[in-house]
Amino acid sequence: MANESPQVSGSATFHAGADAYDRFMGRYSRPLATAFADWCLPADAGTRFLDVGCGPGALTEVAVQRLGASSVVAVDPTPGFVEAFRARHRGVEVHRAPAEHLPFAGGEFDCAAAQLVFHFVSDPERGAAEMARVVRPGGVVAACVWDFEEEMHMLRSFWDAALALDPDAPDEAHIMRFGRPGELTALLRGAGLQHVAETTLRVHSTYANFDELWASFLLGIGPAGAYATSRTPEQQAALRDGLYAQLGRPTGSFALSAVARAVHGTR
Ligand SMILES: C[S@@+](CC[C@H](N)C(=O)[O-])C[C@H]1O[C@@H](n2cnc3c(N)ncnc32)[C@H](O)[C@@H]1O
Repeated sequence: MANESPQVSGSATFHAGADAYDRFMGRYSRPLATAFADWCLPADAGTRFLDVGCGPGALTEVAVQRLGASSVVAVDPTPGFVEAFRARHRGVEVHRAPAEHLPFAGGEFDCAAAQLVFHFVSDPERGAAEMARVVRPGGVVAACVWDFEEEMHMLRSFWDAALALDPDAPDEAHIMRFGRPGELTALLRGAGLQHVAETTLRVHSTYANFDELWASFLLGIGPAGAYATSRTPEQQAALRDGLYAQLGRPTGSFALSAVARAVHGTR
């Protein structure tokens, strides 16, 4: 089953750029990168690490801190992200490429990791097989995605508000694979990886006020942003009100939490 749909189409929903991405999702993916790396990154310094679907580079940043810039390589198919990555992470090799076609020889890396990427990969089985191919025997392949069933408060509240107004709203929880227990494990096992382990990782982000959250949807990032920006001004106003109600009408600062389902296995 491919992941392609009119609402979820690889890099198409990430064209708004790195700064917009940071305001919408980077605020979660940065703390997640630390938790994910703590869990999956081999402790021995000198590890050659590949960040697959790097975006602006949240996971790369953590890997560079731990391993050094010359040990880290990154790929992403979205041109604007690759450009922003180059500006932000000078000295780190980056390529414009999808997970399904990694431009590396077999066994080049000790660890290949994809953070919040497999929801957007058109051919996830091929992507996982490619990640397995480019790590050495005994090397690690790791991935994580948001667990919509456990908790991704920001997106869950948005889609609940959207569904209350539009029963056909393309709720990510129903469109996307891999957020449920066992799905990422099956993906890695299918790619021939062994000793596959799965866990959940919880992070949160604090908003100064509700307007900060609502404005982040209007940046057009990801399926939720694409849906919000496709609405008429009247529909947007109703969606904003619905989301505000979903969150209990916060009057000041508030935090939302998010749980990622993470997996790693060895080749
Ligand atoms: C939610 S962002 C995650 C970015 C980054 N890893 C992070 O944690 O902030 C999803 C990323 O997947 C990338 N992507 C989309 N299709 C992809 C594919 N087929 N292979 C690799 N990356 C892909 C997008 O360009 C985007 O950078």
